[in-house]
Order: sequence, then C-alpha cells, then structure tokens
Amino acid sequence: MTKVEAPLQDRFGRGVNYLRLSVTDRCDFRCVYCMSEDMTFLPRAQILTLEQLYDIASSFVQLGVKKIRLTGGEPLVRNNVMSLIERLGQLENLEQLHLTTNGAQLDKFAKPLKAAGLTGINISLDSLQAGRFKELTRFGELQKVLNGVDAARDAGFNRIKLNAVILKGRNDDEILGLVDYARDKHIDISFIEEMPLGNISEHDRALSFISSEQIRTQIQERYALTPTTENTGGPSRYYRMADSQSRIGFISPHSHNFCHLCNRVRLTVEGRLLLCLGNEHSVSLKEIVDRYPGDHDRLRDAIIKAMDLKPERHHFSLDDEPQIVRFMNTTGG
Ligand code: 5AD
Ligand code: SF4
Repeated sequence: MTKVEAPLQDRFGRGVNYLRLSVTDRCDFRCVYCMSEDMTFLPRAQILTLEQLYDIASSFVQLGVKKIRLTGGEPLVRNNVMSLIERLGQLENLEQLHLTTNGAQLDKFAKPLKAAGLTGINISLDSLQAGRFKELTRFGELQKVLNGVDAARDAGFNRIKLNAVILKGRNDDEILGLVDYARDKHIDISFIEEMPLGNISEHDRALSFISSEQIRTQIQERYALTPTTENTGGPSRYYRMADSQSRIGFISPHSHNFCHLCNRVRLTVEGRLLLCLGNEHSVSLKEIVDRYPGDHDRLRDAIIKAMDLKPERHHFSLDDEPQIVRFMNTTGG
C-alpha cells in the first residue's frame, strides 16, 4: 500500500481520522425515531456503486483515516455488501472497520464478517419486549435480533456494543433491563439521545425527549457508575460498573457539546460528504467519481479541500432552531 499522505485536518486544527460510510439508505425496519412509515428510497442511479464506495473509502485511508464505520440504513440489506467489506478489510493502514446494524441478519452474517476483517459491531436494541420492539421498529422481530447478538458473540467479536434510543413513555422503563442484558452478555451499551433528523410525525420529539443525565440517574439507583477516561474521539462518554466488564456509554448531542473533539466526517450513499451531523455543509464526491472514474488524485484533492467546510459546531435544539431535514438513514447513523 502507498504511504499515507499528510493527515486530514480542518480549519480548527481538528484531525479527521474517522469516516462513517453509509452504504445504503434502505432498511428492513422503520424505527419510529429514524424513518417515517412511508419512506421513499433513492433510485439506484443516485447512489454510489460498491466500486465507488471502495474508491472513496480507500482514498480516505490513504489520507490517514484509521477507522471506518459502515452504516445505513441497514448495511446488510445492500446486495453484495460483503464484497465491499472484504476489500475494505484488506486495507493495510485501516486499523478499525466497524459496522452499525439492526442485527436482524447477523445470525447469517456474523461469521463471514469476522472472517472479512470487521473489528467491531454496534447493534441497535431499544426494547427486550417483543410487542414493543415491533412497535418501535414497525417491522422488527426481537428474537432475530437477540439471535444476532449471540451470533456476533459466537463469531468472536470482542467489540460489541448495543445502541439504545430511549423515548419517554415508550421504553424508559427498560433502561435497567437493557443494562442487565448487556451485563449478562458481557457487551457494552450506549444510550443515545434522540436527534432531530428528518421530519417524523409519529411522535413529538420535544415530548419524548429524555436526557442522558436522566438515564444515568436511573441506572445509578442500582449500579454505581465510575466515569472512565476512555474516549473514542466521539460524543460517547463511558462509565464502568465495579462488578462487570460492560461499559455504559451516553451519547448526548443536546446536553453535552463534544464538537471540539470531533474527528469524523460522513459519506452518504448519494456520495455527499457531510462535514457535520448537525449541519448541511457538504460536497458531492459522486460528481467526481462519476465524471472521473479512477482519477484518485482528483478525488483526494477534493477530500482535502472539503475539510475547510467543516463547521466549528452543531446547533441541535428541540424547539426554535432550524431542523435538519435529512433522515438518519440518508445521513448514515
Ligand atoms: N436520533 C438518535 N438516534 C437515532 N438513530 C436513528 N435515528 C436516530 C435519531 N433520530 C440511531 C439508531 C441506531 C443508529 C444507527 O442511529 O438507533 O442505533
Ligand atoms: Fe433501520 Fe437503523 Fe433506521 Fe431503525 S434506526 S429504521 S434499524 S436504519
């Protein structure tokens, strides 16, 4: 592999070494906080081919990116996604290749993913009650996801994390149950504050909002939590319990400003490079890979230039500020 060039840096001196790569906007679930019930998905001509996804991802690695997370939608519903993952798994300078999934197909995919070089898996899990799980995901079958968690453990992944979005009045009575499940399975769990991405009508986000602070207080009634200094360069703050290996993370875009530590950018499956989750600043890399296929120098130049557009911080708010109209599934969770 060619030598890594000077690492990417933005105008605020932040190094960018983490790429979140959305490989599809489609999903076999319709989680109430993520999608509306009647989503229209992108036509094929508007999305990057697997080849283009690989070209862009490998250019980032050449520019010093050490970690890639594959997101969606649901990455595992994309045809042939394994062929992309296998190629990414071979990139010598890439240290971490992670996947965020709803877990529904992990019983089938966990082993091949491990063999392909995947190093970590995040699985979304918001409820341990089958009926409620179906309500929250609109289509999901809880048992399949639980089987997926077990399959990931059996495949030997040592970085498995659950992601739970807690909504007031919907699943906030399951916080301790989810923590106990994570402890029982010896895996980590993160609680994510709901973010105002996309217009959904299913619930009022201001009413369902529950802060990380409130969730942590509930957990602390049963388990003492010790903050760790572990930092993945991202918005998660981690805590440990004295009697368990499981870590508990809190992702709090509303109540905790982490922008000064931000080391990441996102690529949507339409080839838009988003410089910030909470802002619309972007450049189209699809235009470049469509017009100049194989021109890696041009692609790398565009990526380097795009870093200048990374804004200093996001402005999420539940009420008065402009909402981001992109849905999470086109953004790349
Ligand atoms: N706010 C917070 N988290 C969300 N996710 C999807 N939509 C939202 C939202 N609006 C989470 C899912 C999953 C990850 C991909 O993103 O729960 O864990
Ligand atoms: Fe699918 Fe994940 Fe969105 Fe749920 S949160 S609809 S699993 S992409």
